[in-house]
Amino acid sequence: ARPRIVVTRAIAEPAMDLLRETGDVWRPEPDRQLPAEELHTAVAGADAIVSTLADRVDGALADAAGRRLRVIASVAVGYDNADVRALADRGVVFTNTPGVLTDATADLTFGLLLSVTRRLGEGERLLRARRPWRFHLGFLLGTGLQGKTLGIVGLGQIGQAVARRALAFGMDIAYTGRRRAPADVERELRARHLPFAELLRTADVVSLHCPLTPETRHLIDAEALATMKPAAYLLNTTRGPVVDEAALARALREGVIAGAGLDVFEREPEVEPGLLDLDNVALAPHLGSATVETRTEMALLAARNVVSVLRGEGPITEVKA
Ligand code: GLV
Ligand code: GLV
Repeated sequence: ARPRIVVTRAIAEPAMDLLRETGDVWRPEPDRQLPAEELHTAVAGADAIVSTLADRVDGALADAAGRRLRVIASVAVGYDNADVRALADRGVVFTNTPGVLTDATADLTFGLLLSVTRRLGEGERLLRARRPWRFHLGFLLGTGLQGKTLGIVGLGQIGQAVARRALAFGMDIAYTGRRRAPADVERELRARHLPFAELLRTADVVSLHCPLTPETRHLIDAEALATMKPAAYLLNTTRGPVVDEAALARALREGVIAGAGLDVFEREPEVEPGLLDLDNVALAPHLGSATVETRTEMALLAARNVVSVLRGEGPITEVKA
């Protein structure tokens, strides 16, 4: 029998074509986020599932699919929504999409950095409110990046790509992480390794690129924010819960730090209401990898993982438990 492949959300057509060559593909029509109960019904008898970060991928999902299930390919790099251990216990391979979204996410990180330091959102809100304005030398002055220190939390692929952009902007690079980066990476980026607390104390911009794990949940809390310079900015393009969002809103309101750029939120799609009234925060609705090119590459990589596992050739980008 042809394998049954369930795709939880609409993905790029070239990836759908690849899946259709391999099996019978089902996806919700019209495209929508299925509640867990409906998703569990939909996956019954599936050999493969292509999922997103909005799906809870756990033992219950695998059990609902049943004994034929061999692979779940998530169209995302982060996998805090997945219980990889529970899948491994059931013999189900889990894959993600590293690499292909590195540049898009680093670009968006810089977009948020420029937006908040140069007050672009504030300026646009002023224009759209049709308020009077006129060029003068003290109008909407922001903060320059040249000679400032970017402190990267987690110097993985995305952290490195952000550092490369920062070098081009004339910034100095510091980083923190459980492990030292390879010597050639440190050399290329002229990156200094610092303990977390020292990075917070010295950086003019702190940018988060660590995965969400039990260890990094609320890594940036009130205490961490108080350690940062009053003139510093915080960027979060990884996962919302790495930051205590209520504490951040308070810190931004009280001038504990100068500003923030956020692409992710603790309780997506909700945004801490305290943030919405502040001018010193640039906000984006989880757009890090949201380009046509990148989303196509992500979908293709997920589809190739599915095809490869179903053919018995093994996964391409497996996440091991
Ligand atoms: C996006 O947030 C991803 O993890 O791919
Ligand atoms: C600014 O627009 C300048 O000409 O300096």
